[in-house]
Amino acid sequence: MNFATTKDTHSKSGHAGISQPEIIGKSNLTSPLKFILRIVAAVIAFELAASVITLLLDPASLFHALIINLVILVVMLVPACYWIIGKSQHPSSTMQLRLKGVSSDPGQLLKSSAESVGLKSKTIRKSDDKIHYGELEQSREMLMQAKQDWEFTFDTIPDAITIHDRNYNIIRANKAARSVLKIPSITNERSVKCYKYYHSTDSPPEGCPSCKCIESEELVSFEVFEPHLELYLEIMAMPRYNNSGDFIGIIHIAKDISYKKETEQTIQEQIKRLSIANFIDKAIAANLNLNSILHILTDLIKRHLGIDAANVLLYDRDKRLLHFVAGKGFRSDALKYTKLNLGESIAGRCALERKSIFVKDIREENLGFERSKDFSKENFISYISVPLIAKDEIKGVLELFNRSELVAEPQWLDFLDNIANQAAIAIDNASMFEDLQQSKNELVLAYDSTIAGWSHALDMKDKETEGHSRRVAEMTVKMAREIGIEGEELEHINRGAYLHDIGKMAIPDNILLKPGKLTAEERDVIELHTIHARDMLKEIKYLEPAMDIPLYHHEKWNGTGYPLGTKSDKIPLAARIFAIVDVWDALSSDRPYRKAWPEEKVIDYIRSEAGTHFDPEMVEVFMKVLGRGEVLSNAGT
Ligand code: C2E
Ligand code: SIN
Ligand code: SIN
Ligand code: FE
Ligand code: FE
Repeated sequence: MNFATTKDTHSKSGHAGISQPEIIGKSNLTSPLKFILRIVAAVIAFELAASVITLLLDPASLFHALIINLVILVVMLVPACYWIIGKSQHPSSTMQLRLKGVSSDPGQLLKSSAESVGLKSKTIRKSDDKIHYGELEQSREMLMQAKQDWEFTFDTIPDAITIHDRNYNIIRANKAARSVLKIPSITNERSVKCYKYYHSTDSPPEGCPSCKCIESEELVSFEVFEPHLELYLEIMAMPRYNNSGDFIGIIHIAKDISYKKETEQTIQEQIKRLSIANFIDKAIAANLNLNSILHILTDLIKRHLGIDAANVLLYDRDKRLLHFVAGKGFRSDALKYTKLNLGESIAGRCALERKSIFVKDIREENLGFERSKDFSKENFISYISVPLIAKDEIKGVLELFNRSELVAEPQWLDFLDNIANQAAIAIDNASMFEDLQQSKNELVLAYDSTIAGWSHALDMKDKETEGHSRRVAEMTVKMAREIGIEGEELEHINRGAYLHDIGKMAIPDNILLKPGKLTAEERDVIELHTIHARDMLKEIKYLEPAMDIPLYHHEKWNGTGYPLGTKSDKIPLAARIFAIVDVWDALSSDRPYRKAWPEEKVIDYIRSEAGTHFDPEMVEVFMKVLGRGEVLSNAGT
């Protein structure tokens, strides 16, 4: 900073001399050359005058000429010398230095002036108060030059600089201070109290940087927003001292950093926006439900907009009601049970008219909040409601509450608008996702209950197989888990096991419920239950993956099963597992055509069919799940 140079060369004491002088009138200082010329001119004038007078009086008398020459010499030379030398000291001189607060003694003046332009005091010779005038002239010229340089610099610095005395008066202001800070022109007679100008107070207020600097005599520096100038300023106030080290005031430098601040703010806002958009994406990806998303969203909105409380009212299109879903910053449950028709109360109006509503002071108006008896305890003052609209549909209302009066800057309102748009999109996305999830869940529920209903109907029809479907499904899932099947595949196996005999629905009761042995024709009809199952299920996309068990559960490992005669590992794994479970459960239960077998007989039978009817590996798994793995290995040896 240029200004610092002045400070550097003068140290503390320098300011006393340099900042105070006011120079009026034109400078007419003589140089040594002019001085010599004047003496030559005076001698020539004298000689001319003497010669003319001598010739006029008595051209012949040499004595007269000599006398007259002497008289004129005396008469002219004395005032000439006085004129030449005494010029700068004379009261009628064309140049005058007016110094405020500094000694009028020329010696002292010269000393401080010279010091202020960098001369050392010992270079000025002074004897018995008589000044060496040649050096004085020289110093004055240097002083003038320095002062002009300084004033030029002072005025061209783009930072606003003001110089204050210790009584809070602004005694100088540079061009930037006059234009940026709009400091009125200052003359010595009319200075301005800095607090009066900056803060419109009659005494130094709290937090005024220049006053603080004057009081503490310490450097004060910080950034501030100056509302009356609408500027962000970087302020620096530094103390000033005179020769004797006395504190005499301050220098106050203000730099306009509004551009920098605006850039910073734009970046900050972009970051905020990004973080909200980012959050919404993440929340949806993370499969959060709409309620959780809205809770986090209101929290983000409250914090990013710097307000005391925020809530979201969702619009339920079926009930045609706005209802409270999420709020942050409330001290009571006053608004938690809000339910509003479109057009009702202020938020209802906001939704109906699709327009933001800003109320500076809600205490002054009758807005409908007073219906909630706890609302007054919240001490809210300012209120804003913003409609949340996505795809041209009203999704809800965002309400903001503040416990002090809100100053809604245009930039802030833009940001609010932006957030409201994003919130509306978030609600739309999340509810779409939720709707989808719900219809999927509903479908799953519908199918699963259909399946349960079907298998139950079957169990009911064939009284003695009551609970068979559930039992075989449970055992099948256990075995499947045992061999590492999980997730959706397990779901399909479970459904398939439940549905394995669904085809029996198409078998006439007289065959199915026949108490005795089946004829070959009846047997053919019964064997069709696998094909019936396939025909019933293939139309339902959702149940297609569950088809293996109903279609293949009567296939045999050696290829002698039905309906297709598929062999060994060509038979789907689920069906190979299930075949064991099915025979195990059938033999353990009473049938219209025979009594239930004892457990050991069933186990022995299954073991004996390993490799013929059943997949031997799956028989091993079955035994393990039944807790009979040991027996198997013993039997193997
Ligand atoms: P289900 O009664 O559930 O029997 C399922 C499977 O268990 C049978 O398939 C068969 O492999 C085995 N199983 C059941 N009971 C016995 C038995 O007493 N001895 C032996 N060794 N294995 C048995 P399968 O044979 O293909 O029969 C399919 C379905 O046909 C049976 O289901 C049942 O509903 C019906 N069924 C089979 N035989 C008769 C019968 O003699 N009379 C009647 N009314 N229905 C029969
Ligand atoms: C001052 O130093 O008092 C002026 C700076 C300000 O408050 O804006
Ligand atoms: C039944 O459900 O009664 C027997 C199962 C089958 O025939 O596969
Ligand atoms: Fe069957
Ligand atoms: Fe069965």
